[in-house]
Amino acid sequence: MAVVTIVGAGVIGISWARLFGAGGWEVRISDPRPDLPELVARELADLPVRATDDLAAAATGADFVQEAGPERIEIKEQMFATLAAHTRDDVVLASSSSSLLPSAIAQGNPAADRIVIGHPFNPPELMPLVEVVPGPLTSARTADRASEVYRELGKLPIRLKKEIPGFVGNRLQKVFDDQAAYLVQQGVIDVQDLDDLVRASLGLRWATIGPFESGVLGGGPGGMRHLMEHVGSQLIFEIGEPDPARMGEVLDAVEDAYGTGESAHERLADLRDGRTRAVLKPLGWAEPASGDGRQQ
Ligand SMILES: NC(=O)c1ccc[n+]([C@@H]2O[C@H](COP(=O)([O-])OP(=O)(O)OC[C@H]3O[C@@H](n4cnc5c(N)ncnc54)[C@H](O)[C@@H]3O)[C@@H](O)[C@H]2O)c1
Repeated sequence: MAVVTIVGAGVIGISWARLFGAGGWEVRISDPRPDLPELVARELADLPVRATDDLAAAATGADFVQEAGPERIEIKEQMFATLAAHTRDDVVLASSSSSLLPSAIAQGNPAADRIVIGHPFNPPELMPLVEVVPGPLTSARTADRASEVYRELGKLPIRLKKEIPGFVGNRLQKVFDDQAAYLVQQGVIDVQDLDDLVRASLGLRWATIGPFESGVLGGGPGGMRHLMEHVGSQLIFEIGEPDPARMGEVLDAVEDAYGTGESAHERLADLRDGRTRAVLKPLGWAEPASGDGRQQ
């Protein structure tokens, strides 16, 4: 049985562990958190998992590493130094980082050619995409092997042609989230109405066709060129930016709308996972592996 070492047992690491475990991998998970044994017993009950706080021991003998530790460059550098020293020289070291450049994580690392970003969308066990982002020192073999592993797990690996901060998914998300916060700060719309507006329009549309495809259709037989000349030419306004000093107001409004803490998190995660599972197959994605998809 091939062995995967997951580094970090947080929101993302636990979900990767479920995905790899359901995909037939033997899972080792490493995290210094004191509640690791209870967490693993609760969240990964039916899987072949070994949990330890010793990263070097977890990495030794691994066939693939998926790092999901804290989003801090100094911690990633330290973790990847340990991983480089305790893995064979054919083992891919993939980071789940949401925005840190692979070149920064690999800087000064003797295994820089084996380091690549494998950025999932939360939760990795359900969302099809994994962005594969090679740095300038990442070997083609590393990016190929990472893509192959993700494909075998039923994911859609999309390989970027070069690194850029935030990659593609989170750059798009940042523009969108900034504008959502701006509209709430401006008193144009409430938090829940904005969420419903997106679910009932752009979210549903983008689950079926992408923004460029949508542009083609929006222009009728004249295609996106016609749409740009006709409607697009009139979309002339300042886009605006949220005021960072007033983000507290937006966060208060989000917490008022959805609550906070364990029970709110569990309720929302169940809603999201149930809806996501229901649409994956009809939309042509691989059926997710069994498991309740719950996040910690
Ligand atoms: N949360 C998301 O939506 C999301 C989505 C995609 C990618 N990511 C990325 O995944 C990674 C993990 O994010 P998360 O949301 O799961 O964070 P998290 O805070 O939930 O989990 C991080 C875990 O790392 C552990 N940790 C700390 N030091 C460690 C060490 N030295 N070795 C091993 N584990 C250590 C912590 O104890 C914690 O359990 C980050 O790089 C993040 O950018 C997050």
